Amino acid sequence: MREKTVLVTGGARGIGAAVCDAFLARGARTAFTDIDEEVGKAREVELGGREKALFIKADASDKGDAERMVAEVVSAWGRLDVLVNNAGITRDALCARMEEGDFDSVVRIHLKGAWLCAKAAHKQMRAQGGGRIINTSSVSALGNVGQANYAAAKAGVIGLTKTLALEWARYNILVNAVMPGFIDTRMTVPLPEKVKAMLIEKIPLGRFGKPEELARLHLFLAGEGGDYITGQVLCADGGLTAGF
Ligand SMILES: NC(=O)c1ccc[n+]([C@@H]2O[C@H](COP(=O)([O-])OP(=O)(O)OC[C@H]3O[C@@H](n4cnc5c(N)ncnc54)[C@H](O)[C@@H]3O)[C@@H](O)[C@H]2O)c1
Repeated sequence: MREKTVLVTGGARGIGAAVCDAFLARGARTAFTDIDEEVGKAREVELGGREKALFIKADASDKGDAERMVAEVVSAWGRLDVLVNNAGITRDALCARMEEGDFDSVVRIHLKGAWLCAKAAHKQMRAQGGGRIINTSSVSALGNVGQANYAAAKAGVIGLTKTLALEWARYNILVNAVMPGFIDTRMTVPLPEKVKAMLIEKIPLGRFGKPEELARLHLFLAGEGGDYITGQVLCADGGLTAGF
């Protein structure tokens, strides 16, 4: 990864932070965005400063911010090899009680945001002769009670991934998605203990995943292992969906 330049959206914490750690540990120049400036700036310092780990305050669902984040990476390092569309939120509620604003904000960040950021990155990747885009879906794409907004957005990410892979293969831009199961991050902290125990019962490996385990999948897709892979969804869920 020494020659690579990587940009991770929503990289201040959770899976995104683990992805940054993994790429940095392998010598990549790693930039990350977040809407949380305080945590982002603190991470930038912790990771060794702007030369190595560049924090850019940017909203992944905003067109202007998406274009600016790519421009900042290119201005700092001259190219962008890997974009990881990771930023996201949940606003769970049973469908009948879900507010329109919560439907819109979840779909906007996960689905429209991935499209906007991929679109912004592709211009640079095309100009430089190629690149990799890694989107983030979820096992919830297969349906999950209380997550009509999130499940729809994450299912949409799969369609987006496959379409971009088809459209951009000619530019040597490889587009794939990771599909995490339940991973120990701030996003799963609010789950009641009873629900967590019930989920763990259903996971053949008997535990939630760790962010760094997901990050190794990103390394694989961004590295030589991913040279002939595009338009795919790679699931890391401890076996949860194996029997589906
Ligand atoms: N944790 C899980 O179990 C799990 C499972 C499947 C998929 N995912 C997906 O993995 C990704 C990362 O999730 P996580 O568990 O690390 O969550 P997290 O809440 O720990 O981290 C998400 C980060 O994204 C940032 N963010 C939110 N909205 C943003 C925006 N508009 N622009 C830029 N940054 C923004 C947050 O500030 C936060 O730092 C998400 O796309 C999530 O849907 C997570």
